[in-house]
Amino acid sequence: MAKKAKAVAKQQSKKDARTEAIERLKTEYTETEKVILRRRSVRLYKKEPVPEFMVKRVLQAGRFAPSAGNSQPWKFVVLRDPEIINGITETVVGICKKFNAMLEYRKPGTSWRRPLSKAFIRVRHNDLHPVPFGAVRMIAEGALGLWHGASTVILIFKDVRGVSSPELDCGIAGQNMVLAAHSMGLGTCWVGFAKMAFQYTNEWKKRLNIEYPYAWGNSLALGWPRGEPDGMVERATHPVDWYENGGKKIVLD
Ligand SMILES: Cc1cc2nc3c(=O)[nH]c(=O)nc-3n(C[C@H](O)[C@H](O)[C@H](O)COP(=O)(O)O)c2cc1C
Repeated sequence: MAKKAKAVAKQQSKKDARTEAIERLKTEYTETEKVILRRRSVRLYKKEPVPEFMVKRVLQAGRFAPSAGNSQPWKFVVLRDPEIINGITETVVGICKKFNAMLEYRKPGTSWRRPLSKAFIRVRHNDLHPVPFGAVRMIAEGALGLWHGASTVILIFKDVRGVSSPELDCGIAGQNMVLAAHSMGLGTCWVGFAKMAFQYTNEWKKRLNIEYPYAWGNSLALGWPRGEPDGMVERATHPVDWYENGGKKIVLD
């Protein structure tokens, strides 16, 4: 009987703790939420290297990401060698310069290129959307660094044989790494532009031994942020359709 009473009391105290925790959530964010809400892309880094064990912890956060069928369709490549980081950057700058020259139709004497440029932009709309294309111009002109001077870069390659959607799985693994890094006081920036060095040339795929079944996924700059870029900013709230109790409401917060 005493055993039963003890079990009931234990159950009750668990319930009380949960009620208390829920009450606290009404006014406080959890540590995980704080990292999610305060994380910003960092585009200015200190030269100071990230200790190796911290990079490994970041990679571990990636490895522990969920993936369809637990297929873990990724390969992470860590770059800490300035010669390679600068070399890939130069390749991307060169390609951005070519793109920029090819798609420039606003300068005097280049208007004849307009239909060709428009057609090219339509075909490659993911790469040449006006927002990223603005950055292509900046990278070509040296106004935007590729990995923003980060001393560590993580390349994420997808295993194309992965179940369902390897690219999505790589994104989830990458964001796990991003959040783990920020929780340690590090900064990160996703850098999709590095794709150009693997999409339009074979040089870096060869140099880094990237071959089937691996294909470009994305990349992350990782380093000690200069200044304090993390912090909450306004974010659009996209309306959420919410079905409950046989009805639908639109949720805006
Ligand atoms: C898949 C992906 C690719 C990105 N590529 C780049 C990039 O090449 N260069 C860059 O400076 N930022 C890049 N970003 C960062 C976005 O510009 C940034 O996340 C967005 O502006 C929101 O800002 P925040 O991350 O500070 O909240 C990328 C982000 C994602 C998710």
